[in-house]
Amino acid sequence: MKSLHYSMLPIFFVVLFSLSWATSADTQEDFLHCLSSFHPGNSSSISQVIYTERNSSYSSILQSSIHNLRFSTPTTPRPLVIVTPLNVSHVQATIHCARNHGLQIRTRSGGHDFEGLSYVAEVPFVIVDLVNFRSVNVDVENRVAWVQSGAITGELYYRIAEKSRTLAFPGALSHTVGIGGYISGGGYGLLFRKFGLAADNVIDAQFIDAKGRVLNRKSMGEDLFWAIRGGGGGSFGIVLSWKLKLVPVPATVTVFSVSRTLEQNATQLFHRWQYVAHNLPDDIYSAVLISTINSTQDGNRTVVATFISLFLGRTNELIPLMQKRFPELGLVKEDCIEMSWIESVVFLSQLPNQTLDILLDRSYGSPLLSPSFKAKSDYVKKPMPEIALQGIWSQLLEEEATSATINFISYGGKMDRISETATPFPHRIGNLYKINYNIGWQQEENMNSQRYISWIRKLYSYMSSFVSESPREAFVNYRDLDIGMNNEGNTSYVQASVWGRKYFKKNFDRLVYVKTKIDPENFFKHEQSIPPRFS
Ligand SMILES: Cc1cc2nc3c(=O)[nH]c(=O)nc-3n(C[C@H](O)[C@H](O)[C@H](O)COP(=O)(O)OP(=O)(O)OC[C@H]3O[C@@H](n4cnc5c(N)ncnc54)[C@H](O)[C@@H]3O)c2cc1C
Ligand SMILES: *[C@@H]1O[C@H](CO)[C@@H](O)[C@H](O)[C@H]1NC(C)=O
Ligand SMILES: *[C@@H]1O[C@H](CO)[C@@H](O)[C@H](O)[C@H]1NC(C)=O
Ligand SMILES: *[C@@H]1O[C@H](CO)[C@@H](O)[C@H](O)[C@H]1NC(C)=O
Ligand SMILES: *[C@@H]1O[C@H](CO)[C@@H](O)[C@H](O)[C@H]1NC(C)=O
Ligand SMILES: *[C@@H]1O[C@H](CO)[C@@H](O)[C@H](O)[C@H]1NC(C)=O
Ligand SMILES: *[C@@H]1O[C@H](CO)[C@@H](O)[C@H](O)[C@H]1NC(C)=O
Ligand SMILES: *[C@@H]1O[C@H](CO)[C@@H](O)[C@H](O)[C@H]1NC(C)=O
Ligand SMILES: *[C@@H]1O[C@H](CO)[C@@H](O)[C@H](O)[C@H]1NC(C)=O
Repeated sequence: MKSLHYSMLPIFFVVLFSLSWATSADTQEDFLHCLSSFHPGNSSSISQVIYTERNSSYSSILQSSIHNLRFSTPTTPRPLVIVTPLNVSHVQATIHCARNHGLQIRTRSGGHDFEGLSYVAEVPFVIVDLVNFRSVNVDVENRVAWVQSGAITGELYYRIAEKSRTLAFPGALSHTVGIGGYISGGGYGLLFRKFGLAADNVIDAQFIDAKGRVLNRKSMGEDLFWAIRGGGGGSFGIVLSWKLKLVPVPATVTVFSVSRTLEQNATQLFHRWQYVAHNLPDDIYSAVLISTINSTQDGNRTVVATFISLFLGRTNELIPLMQKRFPELGLVKEDCIEMSWIESVVFLSQLPNQTLDILLDRSYGSPLLSPSFKAKSDYVKKPMPEIALQGIWSQLLEEEATSATINFISYGGKMDRISETATPFPHRIGNLYKINYNIGWQQEENMNSQRYISWIRKLYSYMSSFVSESPREAFVNYRDLDIGMNNEGNTSYVQASVWGRKYFKKNFDRLVYVKTKIDPENFFKHEQSIPPRFS
């Protein structure tokens, strides 16, 4: 009896397994039928933009914008279907059919989500990949541009520069970041101390809701228009395009990147930077990249602090300014390079600089990022003492941290003059700088990822006494599932308010209010999406 029982177990599992397989195969067939029979208006045939595992290019389409290979393993869940819409009606059809057949939608613009939420889900799902929605229309005369969500940052910069070298947009540092996810999370970059976030410079949008309605700023109303400019991607609907306000930049800007090791007083310099940077004029972007290198002297690893700046002006103005504000750094003319704004983007992301065409290359990975990574963020309101810095350095010198980096990005400037409630992004006045912790590894090391993830969690825990508290703030564009997840087994509101207050502080309540109005059935959801109030 006992042995019979045991021998039946595998059969039982096989039956269960194939049952669930059959169910999802049926769902997939029903969904595909639904798509091909859905014809609102006049659009090109949807079949040419539908990919299942049976299509030979399914894998390459899926891989094409996975920017964190931690979520590209043999066991990572894959979508039943990928749709790469060419027309609005393709998006509408996908929403309609996914709702009718109980599939979740993950919208992907550039695929940079730190936790892979735009292309991985634990339930049967469909990816709407906006790679074909990437037109950029620049109107120099009126200083505006309409850009579709699937465009990458580099495409936007390139198309603006084609028409004018003295207009720009406050976009991301890395050229492959997708416009859709980037603006949805606020979006900071080289120009944010001068002009605010990307989201602060959006003046209209085209949006599709869970019912398939196409809305613009006027028809969606100011609450929803507020929410989509920083409330995080994937919660409200799909933003198809954005109308952006372009900003003026001088024809010549100046950049520098100056490195100092511990032996060259990196600790004292970084300590001092904390007092100096947020008070610098709005025209300066200032960041410090902390990493480790083998010392050229004794071959031992040491910590190096790289002071990176973009100045919206010339070297001869920058040198006296830095000598007055931050003489300890010892900045000299030879450290400074003058170039156009668009060249500074290429330079500071360490891209090959022979031609600007690299900005159009969606697959050219950032040389600053490992293939697989885990990242976290913090905000700092008072300078850390030197002893705290020593504690960080010693963790960076641990064996698993050879490819770990910590970025410190100065706040202040315009960020201090925009209200905390103007957009969902609440980290404004009172912040000296933001921290971005990052640990990377090669894809072959994915099976050992726990080792690296434990390292970054330990560092994060060490940092708790030096950073913002109640809530310990975090940047939604640096998605981090460690700080909490929605859980079906709990009221999602209670669960979500844990991470929600970290990303949005009090703005979380208004985001929940908007979500309850626009998507009460919670169709657009993921592990950290804004929940409706009574679900
Ligand atoms: C190398 C690198 C550099 C980065 N540099 C910066 C930087 O300089 N400044 C900064 O602020 N952030 C930066 N980030 C973070 C980045 O802004 C976020 O990861 C952002 O979400 C990426 O947008 P995406 O479209 O590429 O990502 P995706 O993974 O496609 O999307 C991210 C999230 O938004 C949702 N989403 C995507 N498109 C839409 C849409 N059209 N409508 C509604 N929801 C949508 C997705 O479902 C997902 O939840 C960087 C990230 C990386 C990996
Ligand atoms: C559909 O679009 C095509 C080309 O875009 C056009 O030639 C055709 O007349 C349109 N049909 C209708 C019914 O609008
Ligand atoms: C994928 O395969 C299906 C079935 O063979 C086909 O109808 C569809 O056009 C293919 N998709 C693409 C993008 O070629
Ligand atoms: C659908 O997309 C195709 C390809 O981009 C375009 O030529 C066509 O005009 C679009 N049709 C509509 C109705 O938007
Ligand atoms: C480091 O600081 C000390 C004391 O302030 C100074 O004497 C020394 O010259 C500095 N070293 C470098 C390399 O700048
Ligand atoms: C640094 O030194 C270690 C051990 O001495 C060596 O394995 C590693 O390759 C070196 N790294 C670089 C970038 O030179
Ligand atoms: C460099 O490393 C070696 C071997 O670990 C050690 O003996 C030496 O003291 C180190 N040098 C310095 C300057 O720390
Ligand atoms: C281009 O890159 C090379 C090599 O990295 C560098 O030496 C040069 O200064 C760069 N030029 C500009 C204008 O950025
Ligand atoms: C629900 O969430 C709260 C807050 O995070 C937590 O304290 C509680 O244990 C959770 N309950 C269940 C059943 O998961």
